[in-house]
Amino acid sequence: MNTEVRYPPGPRGLPVVGNTVDLSYDIFGFFEELRDEYGRIASYEVFGTEACMIAHPDAIQQVLLDSHEAFEKGEVLTRNLADAMGEGLFVTGGGQWQNQRTQVQPAFYRNRINTYVPEMRTTAEETVEQWRDGMVVDVNDRMTEMTIDVLGRTLFGVDVTENPVVSEASDAILARFDTSRFWSFLPDRLPTPTNRRYRQKTDELQQFVDDLARQRREQNPEHRGDDLLSILVEVVEASDLTREEFRDNMVTFLFAGHETTALGLTYTLLCLAQHPDEQAALRAEIDAACDENLTAKDLPKLEQTENVIDEALRLYPPVYMFFRETSQDVELQGYTIPEGTTLVLPQWAVHRDSAWWDDPETFRPERFADDDDDRPEYAYFPFGGGPRHCIGMRFARMEMKTVLATILNEYSFDLVSDPSPELIASTNLKPAEPIEIELEKC
Ligand code: HEM
Repeated sequence: MNTEVRYPPGPRGLPVVGNTVDLSYDIFGFFEELRDEYGRIASYEVFGTEACMIAHPDAIQQVLLDSHEAFEKGEVLTRNLADAMGEGLFVTGGGQWQNQRTQVQPAFYRNRINTYVPEMRTTAEETVEQWRDGMVVDVNDRMTEMTIDVLGRTLFGVDVTENPVVSEASDAILARFDTSRFWSFLPDRLPTPTNRRYRQKTDELQQFVDDLARQRREQNPEHRGDDLLSILVEVVEASDLTREEFRDNMVTFLFAGHETTALGLTYTLLCLAQHPDEQAALRAEIDAACDENLTAKDLPKLEQTENVIDEALRLYPPVYMFFRETSQDVELQGYTIPEGTTLVLPQWAVHRDSAWWDDPETFRPERFADDDDDRPEYAYFPFGGGPRHCIGMRFARMEMKTVLATILNEYSFDLVSDPSPELIASTNLKPAEPIEIELEKC
């Protein structure tokens, strides 16, 4: 490092623990305060390690897109996820990541995802069929069940409701990496109940995945279907992917695609439940867009539904922050950040920054309808950005639209739980209490 380094300003917290105490107490407030007091690029200390918050859209764009080669996923992530999915798309870097992304991408092409819409709709219909007029529904629970079912049917070609191995493993993985709990910072090898359950359930999942893969391999390639599992099996057969990479990717897709989408739906329903006018408008849009059963070709017509989803993901981004690490000294907005520094990109604070959003705390979907807006592109990044943006973004958005359309077709609903539920900074942004709606048959 040279001597002219301008290191980003920031608070110096308590000795030894640094800002760890403030951070674990209220991580959302912490980043907003850091931004307001020290600026959109600011430094802090956590568990004795220097970290920088990057909350300026231009700097975020530089990290994720323009200079992405100068940043890697970094130790915070790899340390936590290495065991479960260290060889998978979410964690790997360099040539290995590039190879996997290229191989897996076809499972997420628009045409392919369009073929998943009927399964998404059927799964949503099966859920809604169990609902009744006047019933109170715990939205997060129901959306969590529904999204795991959709992932199982579309990406792995299995009915997970018949076999609990997938949902049990998913629960165990999320509990293990629940960063709001102290145990997520304990080493994997300690025999805590969470670690033991995590080991057992991921072993069972890996066995299950191996069996599924074997069955697919034994099938005539013409009858294999074209889900993600079949694609991965073919890539393994072409020896472009090791068996370990294959398994880690199956776990990756469960980990990355399940809770995130369930939370996206939960928060969209939370916002809609408080805005009956929006529910009515979306219902009218859905009625106008499709005659009978919703199909993939109807989805692009649901523009207002899309704005509602965008706005819910702005206010409640399921991934509320993520990390990078500098792989060399870098200049960001006039500051020099040394190699090896952990960077945190906090969607929560950027999505609620009044510099880019009028009245940021208010739910106003129409702000996404305004094409003339001169807001910087990276003031909004619920799915990340640049080459490592969420591969499942289109899948998640299609699923959310399909599920919302299915629900709104049958029911209107009111919120009967707290309109501002307490939130937990877990692996994802989770409600600390049930979000409940009361149904009224349309
Ligand atoms: C609302 C739902 C979702 C949200 C908010 C979300 C958010 C994100 C974000 C922010 C990233 C970037 C992380 C980073 O750069 O460090 C990411 C990456 C990723 N997501 Fe999603 N995601 C969602 C749904 C899904 C779904 C449905 C799948 C799969 C079916 C998925 C699979 C992945 C994978 C594999 C990556 C890593 C991509 C790579 O590094 O090449 N996600 N997601």
